[in-house]
Amino acid sequence: MSLTIDIEPLSPILGASVRGIELTKPIDDRTADTIRDAFHRYSLLCFPGQEISAGDQLRFANLFGKGDGGVRETKEVGAKRTGNRGVMYVSNIRENGKPIGVLPDGEMQFHSDGAHRDSPYRATTLYAIKIPSHGGDTLFANLYAAYDALPQATKDRIAGLKTQFVYDYDAQLRSLTDDDDSELPRAVHDLVRTHPATGRKSLYLSRLMCRRVVDMDPAESEALLLELFDHAEKPEFVYAHKWTIDDLVVWDNRCLNHARTDFPAEEERMLRRFTVSEPDAPDHE
Ligand code: OGA
Ligand code: MN
Repeated sequence: MSLTIDIEPLSPILGASVRGIELTKPIDDRTADTIRDAFHRYSLLCFPGQEISAGDQLRFANLFGKGDGGVRETKEVGAKRTGNRGVMYVSNIRENGKPIGVLPDGEMQFHSDGAHRDSPYRATTLYAIKIPSHGGDTLFANLYAAYDALPQATKDRIAGLKTQFVYDYDAQLRSLTDDDDSELPRAVHDLVRTHPATGRKSLYLSRLMCRRVVDMDPAESEALLLELFDHAEKPEFVYAHKWTIDDLVVWDNRCLNHARTDFPAEEERMLRRFTVSEPDAPDHE
């Protein structure tokens, strides 16, 4: 017996909730197409009330590209850490004083996962296991809408520009990242990109990771980037996701940024994270 699939927008700007699909079971091709169509239309899907295993989540991630199911290992490069692609737990829970997962504490600025790699993550899936009583919301910003709303003069000015992204695994704010540290992973991407599935243009930049416009005077680059960050973070482009345990969320990193609000340090928060890579992305870079 098949259930009726119910897809409802979560906000006027992005996101939809999907009910009527049990993700503990394999998904037939027609349902998979329905999910992918909704993903392209809304850029973010939330499947509430899913009691799923890690294996179920990886199978779900594989609907969107190459689910990164390997064991994630972080290794030391000089004094810094870098990681391959694989499952992670986003958590502030500590054992013997050491976080059991990654991205443990507090606020995180807007970013797009994997922008510091040559082949960024196409999508990210997060499954809520433990959620604090308040705070710790994940904010999502629509970068198609941000691009569309720019004045034509700005669109003309930024056409063809490239920017450099730098990521410090231990820094969740721009001010804590040291650009000059040549050991930090970095990559260059187009500032305006066309989404391969929807054909829509979007900005591709973020306060946390996007450091400079390539071949531009540093002061001019910084002024332009700060103006564009402020623009892309305007409330009219943002949907705030307040988590409920057993929510499974997938978002498109090619057209959305995300950030996290602060939450009480003494309360536990844990989400399971499988990223989705381009089918031809290397496991190690
Ligand atoms: C991530 C991330 C935000 C959050 O997993 O990539 O940015 O709300 N998480 O924990
Ligand atoms: Mn992230």
